[in-house]
Amino acid sequence: MTSREQSDGSKARARSTATPRQVAFDVLRAVAADDAYANLLLPTRLRRARLTGADAAFATELTYGTLRRRGHYDRIIARAAGRDIAAIDPVALDVLRLGAHQLLGMSTPAHAAVGETVELTRRARAARTTGFVNAVLRTISRDDDATWTARLLEGVTDPDERKGIAHAHPAWIVRALRSALAREGRESELDDLLVADNAPPRVTLVALPGLSTAEALGDRTRFSPVGARSAAGDPAAHPIVAVGAARVQDEGSQLAALALSRARPITAGERWLDVCAGPGGKAALLAAEARAGGAMLTANELVPARAELVRRALRAVDPTVEVRVEDGRDLASRHPREFDRILLDAPCTGLGALRRRPEARWRKGENDVGPLAALQAALLRSALSALRPGGVLAYVTCSPHPDETTAIVDALLAEHPADVVPLDARTVLAGITRTPLDLGELPNGAAQLWPHRQGTDAMFIQLLTRR
Ligand SMILES: C[S@@+](CC[C@H](N)C(=O)[O-])C[C@H]1O[C@@H](n2cnc3c(N)ncnc32)[C@H](O)[C@@H]1O
Repeated sequence: MTSREQSDGSKARARSTATPRQVAFDVLRAVAADDAYANLLLPTRLRRARLTGADAAFATELTYGTLRRRGHYDRIIARAAGRDIAAIDPVALDVLRLGAHQLLGMSTPAHAAVGETVELTRRARAARTTGFVNAVLRTISRDDDATWTARLLEGVTDPDERKGIAHAHPAWIVRALRSALAREGRESELDDLLVADNAPPRVTLVALPGLSTAEALGDRTRFSPVGARSAAGDPAAHPIVAVGAARVQDEGSQLAALALSRARPITAGERWLDVCAGPGGKAALLAAEARAGGAMLTANELVPARAELVRRALRAVDPTVEVRVEDGRDLASRHPREFDRILLDAPCTGLGALRRRPEARWRKGENDVGPLAALQAALLRSALSALRPGGVLAYVTCSPHPDETTAIVDALLAEHPADVVPLDARTVLAGITRTPLDLGELPNGAAQLWPHRQGTDAMFIQLLTRR
């Protein structure tokens, strides 16, 4: 029995009514049935079950690992069950997914993976499926993941389908990532990227300028001048984070915000706008930067509940920042040429943050890209109309998909050949980062970060100015 296994039993039960497996199962059910986000739900469920240390780590790996490889396990479950997964009771299917991950993706001994997981069906009032779940898990347990994967690959010739099967990504995402890397002539990095997408990211913190310093937070990150690595455990428990002087934030997101705030020196009195601010991560960093330089930030967000999160994020930094609830596509009529710096961190497929949002790759589909690209183009046109001549606009996405990034910028530049000019984001970032970023060559001086190269989310950053 592994130490994790030992911890995942009597100890947990003595302290709370929910075991790590039950917590993972509840989160999986909420993701499948209510479209919940695992990364938002799991921390609450862990706290409620009072799981800490090895128990919390086991529940976390079980939840995120299962969700990340869900499509892979579904294929294996369908083979082992001899039926399409659509024909399997949804509760039993989630139990099977959890069992498959313990058997194929974790070093859980088969007897515990099968026995304790089958037990979940009883607790979930799906006892009638117990025999079926037990039989399927026993079939799965007869081979290891490599053998199952080889079986799934038999007869599949399309290279992206094959990579999708081997690395638990939908084929359309593999194709999109391949074409994004190909823009930089770095298609050969595709396997590294797919592997990086499956590794849990290290949690990083941002020290909000004027309120805390990266040195005070802990080990500094490689690139961001305001970044630090979070120690193991709950980052929110760090005293500097607890008072709002630092926040959890991906290093790539920090660099995206700084690319705007540090694109050029700040003149006191500048007006800044964050068009799509919810839930407020970049707005908090921008607000701290604006305050230090004498600029004034306005944050905007379409969804009222997310605007409330922005208000909360800004409370410790600068409670005077105005948070508006408006459609970012309407800036032309409401705020023409009003702002000196604008961040458009556009809604996107999130293909650059797959490590962080475990279920996302199976939830989004290729058909989502077109409508999102149309929204991004409309938001960018609108943001441009609110930019003062000579101002700086940062177009940012946490997706490297060409349709959401370079294609959107190309279309805008084609519409405005005379008055919109790209600024070199790579040069700006080179002046900000603590060590060089190894960025690939993209048109218009755009910067594309990558999980496998920089260890950040795959943020796309384009800086533009208006004559
Ligand atoms: C990628 S997120 C922004 C993340 C944020 N900048 C941060 O760092 O925390 C995009 C946001 O845009 C918002 N949004 C979507 N459509 C919008 C619109 N038409 N106008 C303004 N905001 C919109 C979404 O609700 C979402 O909160």
